Amino acid sequence: MNKIVVLDFGGQYCHLISRRIRDFGVRSEVMPADTSAKKLGADKLVKGVILSGGARSVFDKSAPKFDRQILNLSIPVLGICYGHQLIADAVGGQVVAGKSGEYGLMKLDVKAKGEILARLGKSITVWMNHHDVVEQLPKSFQTLAGTEHAKIAAFENKRDKIFGVQFHPEVSHTKKGDQILRNFTFKICECKKSWTSELVAENMIREAADTIGSQTAIIGLSGGVDSSVAAALVGKAIGKQLIAVYVDTGLMRAGETKFIEQTFKQKNLNLKIIKAEKQFFRVLKGVSSPERKRKIIGKLFIDIFYDVAKQVRADVLVQGTIYSDRIESGVTKHSSRIKSHHNVGGLPKNLKMKLYEPLKDLYKDEVRNLARELDLPTEITTRQVFPGPGLAIRIIGEVTPKRVRVVRQASKIIEEELKETQFWQNIWMSFAVLLPIKSVGIQGDKRSYKSPVVVRIIESRDAMTANFAKIPFPILEQISTRITNEIDEVNRVAYDISNKPPATMEWE
Ligand code: XMP
Repeated sequence: MNKIVVLDFGGQYCHLISRRIRDFGVRSEVMPADTSAKKLGADKLVKGVILSGGARSVFDKSAPKFDRQILNLSIPVLGICYGHQLIADAVGGQVVAGKSGEYGLMKLDVKAKGEILARLGKSITVWMNHHDVVEQLPKSFQTLAGTEHAKIAAFENKRDKIFGVQFHPEVSHTKKGDQILRNFTFKICECKKSWTSELVAENMIREAADTIGSQTAIIGLSGGVDSSVAAALVGKAIGKQLIAVYVDTGLMRAGETKFIEQTFKQKNLNLKIIKAEKQFFRVLKGVSSPERKRKIIGKLFIDIFYDVAKQVRADVLVQGTIYSDRIESGVTKHSSRIKSHHNVGGLPKNLKMKLYEPLKDLYKDEVRNLARELDLPTEITTRQVFPGPGLAIRIIGEVTPKRVRVVRQASKIIEEELKETQFWQNIWMSFAVLLPIKSVGIQGDKRSYKSPVVVRIIESRDAMTANFAKIPFPILEQISTRITNEIDEVNRVAYDISNKPPATMEWE
């Protein structure tokens, strides 16, 4: 195996760079901005380093720095946006504050293709997002391309294999951006394709066996693809030493407990089902704040785990945390906190068990591929994502058994109706949200005063961004009619037409 390391300077597209490279079939990992040259140099798998973009200016004293010795490792380095400026600054070039920034689509004039812009046309449309510009570079650096405001928008030093692009080749708006990353990965770094689901699974099973050894491990199985894959993977590595615990929080999807029981008993997993519905409703009584709900649910969940873990004397807690969970919870150093994810935020600081998160560097679709590789049933691999805190974060205001029933039933109707259509396969998530207000309606010739339900149907590739699905009105109408007919507490249905950003997928 070989890999490309992406150093994270906090840019919102940092993970996308790594994503693109993995899509080419090459392993790529995101590491902190201050990772040392010594560490990178010692890892013989590292064939190239990319310095990501970032929101700061090289002139800021507190802006993230990098170990300049990375440029002397004889490993090719590519700087993107902020990374481009960091390199220019590090090699003795001149970076200045631009007169006006460039944000959005720009025309890039290619003067020389060099190695990094090979196979591109003379002029390409690129996505820019910067204020500072590189004004001058030492003689050993060749300027390859420029835009109206950034005359050095791409450079290379062929001898030392140092490259920079001011624009973002990783975002789809940059035409042929993939070609630039391919040039770097395959031609310049000479990587070979080796990131396939089969190899990833093999490596992970071996890693799990090595990490856990003869200890006893416990995993919280939610039935989602992440925890199912983590359980199947670790189960393959250590067999019955893994205890899979399914906690019925009372906040799960319709029919979930039965489904889990049937699926995983067949998989020969050591499965324990714990009915904790009453406990969850008790601690959620009177709680409306989204963050408090998340924290409370996460904590009780872990407490229940501890009880089981103590009984079975587990040493290791396995979790199905994936890469996007960590970014969105503000775990990577320079990204900001959006939500406390159940599987990260709820953990106590002094974990008594060793935490093992085998999927922590994988993106959602990679996890799905892995599920297929591990022969998990298609119901699991194709099922929609479901958040750790469950239906609680789809109920705005207090969570009560009655309100959970409304959301559960409405979500079931949405799913049933969509499953019949061609739209189903492109949908990331579809669910109902219950609002804490009432509106006037007319039902059976009588006035009603009941709750509205919001239908949320979204498409996404990797959970980082999302669009609301453009579902035809007749389907939405059918959903709306069924919800108001079949759920007594609801007299109005709205469709959420917000994208992420600025909204998030879940309402809380
Ligand atoms: P947002 O609402 O942040 O959701 O746009 C992105 C994706 O993450 C899921 N999600 C969670 N998953 N624990 C999870 O395991 C959580 O606490 C959590 N919160 C949100 C959400 O369903 C969506 O797919």
